[in-house]
Amino acid sequence: MQTQTPTQHHCHTHTTMAPPATFLVVFSLLALSPLYSSEDDGSLYPQFYDHSCPKAQEIVTSVVAKAVAKDTRMAASLIRLHFHDCFVQGCDASVLLDSSGTLTSEKRSNPNRNSARGFEVIEEIKSALEKECPRTVSCADILALAARDSTVMTGGPSWEVPLGRRDSLGTSVQGSNNNIPAPNNTLQTIITKFKNRGLGIVDLVALSGCHTIGNSRCTSFRQRLYNQTGNGQPDATLDPAYAAQLRARCPQSGGDQNLFPLDPVTQFKFDNQYFKNLLANKGLLNSDEVLVSGGGATAELVEKYAASMEAFFEQFAESMVKMGNITPLTGSEGEIRSRCRQINH
Ligand code: HEM
Ligand SMILES: *[C@@H]1O[C@H](CO)[C@@H](O)[C@H](O)[C@H]1NC(C)=O
Ligand SMILES: *[C@@H]1O[C@H](CO)[C@@H](O)[C@H](O)[C@H]1NC(C)=O
Repeated sequence: MQTQTPTQHHCHTHTTMAPPATFLVVFSLLALSPLYSSEDDGSLYPQFYDHSCPKAQEIVTSVVAKAVAKDTRMAASLIRLHFHDCFVQGCDASVLLDSSGTLTSEKRSNPNRNSARGFEVIEEIKSALEKECPRTVSCADILALAARDSTVMTGGPSWEVPLGRRDSLGTSVQGSNNNIPAPNNTLQTIITKFKNRGLGIVDLVALSGCHTIGNSRCTSFRQRLYNQTGNGQPDATLDPAYAAQLRARCPQSGGDQNLFPLDPVTQFKFDNQYFKNLLANKGLLNSDEVLVSGGGATAELVEKYAASMEAFFEQFAESMVKMGNITPLTGSEGEIRSRCRQINH
């Protein structure tokens, strides 16, 4: 068993027409793992590619490292892609598909348009993986691994990524518009959108901590600077000096695409500074601010993570695994795409 090369393994699964996932799970049950009690219970596990593509994780890591070395912000963009994937039809790489035929790309949705980025990095990872082990590693798993690697490379926590997701055959622009919270949603709406995906308040606050890196466009926070409640006044909860700094970069009209760091104090470092900013009334997005100004459970969690990087890191890792488990396609559902931007034909 140990002498099989990945290539032989791949050919074997194809020539016998055995559903690859079933084969793999049986294989790993025999070879490795007394932990998994059922071969088709649809659950993900970190060793999924250990035999079919043993180099999968190291290939993902090396392409992400190269991309982040070239453009540090890419780490943020890749984590966000995984989030925007998982909140729409589950973690199935639907976010990566281009429009074609009857299929409309989620790249056009309100949260993604002129905003989501990193697609070419995912495509580069995919082509490296296709060379190593064709049609084996899903685009959905690439997103999950790239999100973990991006977190680690910017100084955040690491975790084992459960694997075995498969790729969707379709998209949902409506799901992208409706399920992903908007920056001007109320706290209650944001909580509900997380709850609808099986995530609680603890997950919401910890995962929002991802705004410790990356940028926002002016258009995503302008309302707070000029006319928060329709009375022509800025958001009263925003630190006035910080608001003035933001207005300089984000005029009342125009400059929609101007960028501002979500955490201007340590914008390239994955740390708990985001929570400290919130306590100082220096959250950039309204959706950040409401975690504190809403009081109650979310504000207590913000205080907890501002006080302890360790508590934040531990919960972030746990919540990322939970987010990554949102209704994946497994077994013979969906497919393994050969390019992430289009379904196989
Ligand atoms: C809680 C609800 C959330 C809202 C309302 C929200 C909203 C936003 C908005 C409006 C931006 C700026 C987009 C732009 O203007 O181009 C942004 C950026 C970002 N978001 Fe969130 N987000 C939320 C949760 C999350 C979660 C859960 C994650 C990851 C686990 C995340 C990761 C990021 C990252 C890393 C960026 C920066 C991306 C880049 O620089 O390319 N966000 N978010
Ligand atoms: C939220 O922002 C969207 C997009 O800019 C806008 O159409 C909508 O009116 C805003 N909602 C509220 C409650 O301000
Ligand atoms: C603020 O928003 C309200 C409601 O959308 C609008 O009627 C008013 O003209 C705006 N005021 C300014 C100064 O932009």
